[in-house]
Amino acid sequence: MKILAFGASTSARSINTSLARFAATLIPGAEVDLLDLRDHALPIFSEDLENEIGVPEAARAFFDKIGAADGVIVSFAEHNGAYTAAWKNLFDWASRIDPKVFQGKPAVFLATSPGPGGAASVLASAKGSARFFGADLKAAVSVASFHTVFDAETGRITDPAVVADLTEAADALAQRAFA
Ligand SMILES: Cc1cc2nc3c(=O)[nH]c(=O)nc-3n(C[C@H](O)[C@H](O)[C@H](O)COP(=O)(O)O)c2cc1C
Repeated sequence: MKILAFGASTSARSINTSLARFAATLIPGAEVDLLDLRDHALPIFSEDLENEIGVPEAARAFFDKIGAADGVIVSFAEHNGAYTAAWKNLFDWASRIDPKVFQGKPAVFLATSPGPGGAASVLASAKGSARFFGADLKAAVSVASFHTVFDAETGRITDPAVVADLTEAADALAQRAFA
């Protein structure tokens, strides 16, 4: 089973990338493709630019990686209560290939932040619109106060309750992706 996992962030030290990577390890035997959003950098979307240059390769490559996966784990970084500009921009470009960007794939949506809010606002947005964009959402988990529940040395979440929530989400994704 191929799992595409990524943080919807372009930060080199993205905690959402760390969370997505850890969650993917909870699916035994999965072949994990850890996507780096920085490999899909794009100019700011506009219809004028689209008319000029069409769909850029970086957007198509991103769309194709979702298409090649059996399941997707995305962890959303929250900037001012919403998606990072980089994710929104990439998503807008990809949606011009097909608005169902997630292409019907089983998906787990995560979100984390250093604070107690756990990026719950952006996660709520992602959950609310999942079906419009072709995500077969199996679970969504917000992780609060990331640095207190994560061991950067081992790359593992240390809080048993958080591990339990993530394991349940990973199981839901694996069952569906294996089916
Ligand atoms: C411009 C900006 C806006 C932010 N807004 C929020 C916010 O609304 N809610 C929140 O919980 N954290 C906010 N943060 C803090 C982020 O949660 C934190 O930088 C986190 O590390 C981002 O995830 P990442 O490391 O995966 O990029 C913001 C950070 C930046 C730089």
